[in-house]
Amino acid sequence: MSNERTHRVAVIGGDGIGPEVTAAALEVVRAAGVALSTTSYELGAERYLKDGFVLDDATLEELRGFDAIMLGAVGPAIGDTRIPGGVLERGLLLRLRFGLDLYINYRPFRGVAGSLAEGCEFAIVRENTEGPYAGEGGILRRGTPQEVATQGSVNTRFGVERCVRYAFERAASLASPTLTLVHKTNVLTFAGDLWSRVVNEVAVEFPEVAVDYNHVDAACIYLVENPQRYGVIVTDNLFGDILSDLAGAVTGGIGFAASANLNPARTGASLFEPVHGAAHDIAGSGKANPLAAVSSAVLMLEHLDEVEAAQRIARAVADFDGDVTALGTDGVTKNLIGRL
Ligand code: NAD
Ligand code: IPM
Ligand code: MN
Repeated sequence: MSNERTHRVAVIGGDGIGPEVTAAALEVVRAAGVALSTTSYELGAERYLKDGFVLDDATLEELRGFDAIMLGAVGPAIGDTRIPGGVLERGLLLRLRFGLDLYINYRPFRGVAGSLAEGCEFAIVRENTEGPYAGEGGILRRGTPQEVATQGSVNTRFGVERCVRYAFERAASLASPTLTLVHKTNVLTFAGDLWSRVVNEVAVEFPEVAVDYNHVDAACIYLVENPQRYGVIVTDNLFGDILSDLAGAVTGGIGFAASANLNPARTGASLFEPVHGAAHDIAGSGKANPLAAVSSAVLMLEHLDEVEAAQRIARAVADFDGDVTALGTDGVTKNLIGRL
């Protein structure tokens, strides 16, 4: 049952399989009885190619006012040179993350049957507004033999601390509270020092949480060979991006991995999207796995306090034991709806 409120949700289907999986997720949410009033925004590669439009200030402000934003995926096909790298990723997705102060990227994983991490549950809490994504740097003497490209990593005490505190809160709610900082403190000594000190300081407030540390390269081994060691992984923006795809692969495939871009202070809308991208290689074929988008919608429902509907859909996803490839997007969606 819905909590009787109608939630105003902005929907950005985007590119490739984005609109397909978003439509499937909306269908499931509505079938669970949640009342949504949706407004679609045509943004992404196609819109950019057609109108030269990415995201203006007025649209950003409009999006801020919704109860939530659902996004499919944005980005051109790999090798499509009509759109310079970063125009959409920076101009749309990162603009939303930075502009709406979505400083947490929460990515929960659950190893499906037959996956390397079968039965394991863990989450990545990725800092979402700083690190190398902040855009510090530039190119000097571009196109000359003397050119210089720098790309800095921004790590503020404020930004690191609010992310680490959120990760501890998440870890504290686990049956076996464990938090692992993943970084590269043996080489990135400045940023690593700040992250380590902040983790040690905040840990004092959470004595029930066991704290661990992995270098990011070793974390890639453990995620494959020993994923049960993790509860919550807290890490910076770039490591979190890379580890998410690896975590998706070991828990059953990127088509299952969900994410919530959160503004926990709720000064504006939060954004919910699958971890995967536009997957142009399978767009339009009906083969895209909608479960990542559906699970992202579950995170949205939790955020909107639609706890019962969220649990019902999450259970239907967890109990899903069909063949995604054989069923395709529509078949998986119908299967879920039939078991709500
Ligand atoms: P991708 O995630 O789109 O695809 C990687 C591989 O995973 C492909 O083989 C694809 O077929 C497969 N895959 C992805 N989602 C799937 C699903 N739901 N079901 C089944 N298979 C799935 O990554 P990419 O190819 O590196 O990126 C393509 C475009 O998407 C790029 O423009 C990139 O910038 C963009 N991108 C956007 C987001 C986002 O909007 N959040 C995230 C990642 C990449
Ligand atoms: C993700 C994506 C984005 C990121 C890209 C599309 C900007 O890969 O959400 O994981 O790097 O954060
Ligand atoms: Mn990514």
